Amino acid sequence: MSTFVVEGGAGPLRGRVRVPGDKSISHRALLLAALAEGRSRLSGLSAGEDVAATATAVTAMGAQLDGGVVLGGRSRLHEPEWVVEVGNSGTSIRLLTGFCAALPGLTVLQGDASIARRPMDRVVEPLRRMGAAVDGRDGGRLPPLVVRGGGLSGIDLDLTVPSAQVKGAVLLAGLAATGRTVVRERVRTRAHSEEMLAACGADIEVSADGLTTTLHPSDLSPFELEVPGDPSQASFWLVAACVVPGSEVTVERVYVGPGRAGFLDVLRRMSADLDVEPTSPTTATVTARHSPALRGTTIGGAEVPALIDEIPVLAVAAAVADGPTEVRDAAELRVKESDRVATTVGLLAALGASSEPRPDGLLVSGGSRLVGAAVHSAGDHRIAMAAAVGALVARGDTRIAGWGAVRSSYPHFKEDLHRLLGKAAP
Ligand code: S3P
Repeated sequence: MSTFVVEGGAGPLRGRVRVPGDKSISHRALLLAALAEGRSRLSGLSAGEDVAATATAVTAMGAQLDGGVVLGGRSRLHEPEWVVEVGNSGTSIRLLTGFCAALPGLTVLQGDASIARRPMDRVVEPLRRMGAAVDGRDGGRLPPLVVRGGGLSGIDLDLTVPSAQVKGAVLLAGLAATGRTVVRERVRTRAHSEEMLAACGADIEVSADGLTTTLHPSDLSPFELEVPGDPSQASFWLVAACVVPGSEVTVERVYVGPGRAGFLDVLRRMSADLDVEPTSPTTATVTARHSPALRGTTIGGAEVPALIDEIPVLAVAAAVADGPTEVRDAAELRVKESDRVATTVGLLAALGASSEPRPDGLLVSGGSRLVGAAVHSAGDHRIAMAAAVGALVARGDTRIAGWGAVRSSYPHFKEDLHRLLGKAAP
């Protein structure tokens, strides 16, 4: 098991960084390219293991990947010969369940110990309603999942769990269903599936409030895509710059489109020193500087899906900010790669900051001086990287056990950290 030791007070972070390609966009790019008849060209895909799992899966189903070129098309796709392994990737297993529901044949999907605990009924139930035969442990609530696809009909789905993964899975299935598929959301979640489907020529329409997506069965056209930087990975450097004295970090080409940039609004509310310079309608160069007067805030309501993945690192900022920060309406945190209410509260406690778990979030007291400690990632990449950010402002060294979890989304995080600290990588 790998351990990363972060030196407290190692100094300011300074410089420019490019984070890995956005993970959510990368998964969808591979799945849509696999369905599109012909060659799609993708660059800047996320280098993490999660996206690699989706790439391996679509290859097992007949898409051909060569560098960034994907040769796809429904006529090429077939049931995979072996069990599809998704590792730690919840997005892979949920999107692939929808993808395979539309694929005639049998697919078995399984992942690691964390995946084996994550709720799948949210995708299994709507796909069963569409006519797919999907089963799994505990009546279809838990992986492994077995999908016998084909013969689907469209549905009108009221999405009770705010989840872009469920929306994406149902839309992928709807592409090959008879009749229209409607997904109605109560709060907006990230919009990548509907935007990317539209860009590939699908017959899809999104209501003006962004809450209702209507899709008719469609064939997709191949496309070219340069995947922008992942805002969720950028958040670690931006928070680190805000909390470490003397820092200034610029993250280039960060995706800031619908449903992803909520953490920037939260940091602004906390009085962070941030500059966001748009470079296209959906990307920006974002600079953060040390912000000595950070103050607590309340995070909740409709903004939550747009920042759910950033809560562990925002909690580190909240721990050193003046005054309390309350996170509510975020019960989904409990069913991520780890129970992120428990693991975030545990991380803060280890670093000497006080916070309390809540059923749907947490309350961080604020005003803490962090101290180095031995902590564990709990197998969760975002907890590992939030720990590294906390460690930079702690007195003394922090040992982060289970560091290998970062491979799922940001394999070269350590190298980028050393570069921003102006140190040679060990
Ligand atoms: C994702 C959606 C979110 C997010 C996850 C990626 C996606 O999960 O937490 O990291 O790419 O659709 P939910 O759909 O479960 O909210």
